[in-house]
Amino acid sequence: MVREETNNRESRLLAIVAESVVRPSFQRCCESGDDFFDTFYGDLADRVPGVGALFAGTDMRRQNALVRDGIDALIHYAEGGPAAAEELARLGKLHGRDFLNIQPDLYTGWADALRHTVAQFDPKHTDLVDAAWGEVLADGIALMASFY
Ligand code: HEM
Repeated sequence: MVREETNNRESRLLAIVAESVVRPSFQRCCESGDDFFDTFYGDLADRVPGVGALFAGTDMRRQNALVRDGIDALIHYAEGGPAAAEELARLGKLHGRDFLNIQPDLYTGWADALRHTVAQFDPKHTDLVDAAWGEVLADGIALMASFY
């Protein structure tokens, strides 16, 4: 019972952090449009060997728009949005062994690249904003990885 209340409280706190800190930070980053997402994919390619080849044939303008929605779903999931869980399950299966076959341990580099890019593009960035991103991304990424 006490455990359940603690979990509920943690969920509510995470939702507050997602809505009041991470979502506004992401909106500020998105004001830079493709620059933000191009920098993110450049950082990801530097960090994770072989990523350049994975995106060699990809229309990156389209990919930028899709990953924007994907990040939106991760934030929405932390906010408690029920539709986000379904979208993350779909993305998890798409990245899973039967389709894109992205090893779950690569998600850490993906999140690090995103946080590093946010630090460059969000004019109001602080260490606390970064910590908030870390907390907010974690559960949704774990959910995606669970569908590998
Ligand atoms: C939680 C982290 C991630 C999110 C939210 C995410 C999001 C997305 C989205 C939204 C798409 C487009 C899906 C569609 O076509 O409907 C996509 C495609 C893709 N993602 Fe991810 N992704 C993540 C992690 C990764 C990682 C770690 C890698 C590789 C290291 C990766 C590689 C790819 C590739 C290769 C595609 C297909 C590109 C193409 O269509 O040519 N993703 N991802």
